[in-house]
Amino acid sequence: MNKLAFIGGTGVYDAGILSDIRSEIINTPFGQAACQIGYFKGKEIVFLARHGTGHTIPPHKINYRANIYALKMLEVSSIVSTTAVGSLNPEYKPGELVLIDQFLDMTKSRNGTFFDGEFRGVAHIDMTNPYCQTLRNVIIQAGMKNEITIHPNGTYICTEGPRFETPAEIKTFRLWGADVVGMTNVPECQLAREAEMCYATISMVTNFAAGISPTILTHKEVVECMDRNIESFRKITMMICESFDTTLDCECRHAGKDFGGFCL
Ligand code: HPA
Repeated sequence: MNKLAFIGGTGVYDAGILSDIRSEIINTPFGQAACQIGYFKGKEIVFLARHGTGHTIPPHKINYRANIYALKMLEVSSIVSTTAVGSLNPEYKPGELVLIDQFLDMTKSRNGTFFDGEFRGVAHIDMTNPYCQTLRNVIIQAGMKNEITIHPNGTYICTEGPRFETPAEIKTFRLWGADVVGMTNVPECQLAREAEMCYATISMVTNFAAGISPTILTHKEVVECMDRNIESFRKITMMICESFDTTLDCECRHAGKDFGGFCL
């Protein structure tokens, strides 16, 4: 049976829509991960706050490997994550949602693989379609049913943070084809694929990126925009829980078949 998890980013810190929630600290070979486990209409669902519930973990210090491994240990097969992003694309405006479908990686210091030669040898996983198309379709349907506009495509560039970007960086990233910028989707996305889990991300545009925005950027403005639009996330999340199929298989869950699969 398939199990669904949500990874909440900036502004999404609790599993509010779930009932009978219990908190668990999961011990993994990479360290601990704090999860909340609850139910939505009888389906068991896991929630993990990427930055901690008090936003205490900066993007470059998140233990991405422990988080994904812990979800795998909890028998999660599909992950929907949320991220706050700055927009480089004039069509993607603050308050709007983007269902990213590609990423560019500008991170520098993160443990981005389970296949580091030590833990489980070497593997090169295909990332032609980094985000699960089945989950993406579920999210698009959820948006349509709630009359919430979701831009169905977008290239996300992941920066190291925790600082925001310079206007020169943003100009360059735009030339490279980036639509939105954030600090957390890599390596989370690639670890989920290595662990043979379906993964998709809903990004909330909270600001225009540095140099495009007429003002300097602040974390406060990001959090305030998330707070103003949290209802869209809540509605979509509920709909995803509702329509999540616990029986369907997906090719993401066999991504490592050439390397013997991903056994715990
Ligand atoms: N840059 C990086 N990360 C972000 C931004 C941004 O402009 N907005 C929200 N998260």
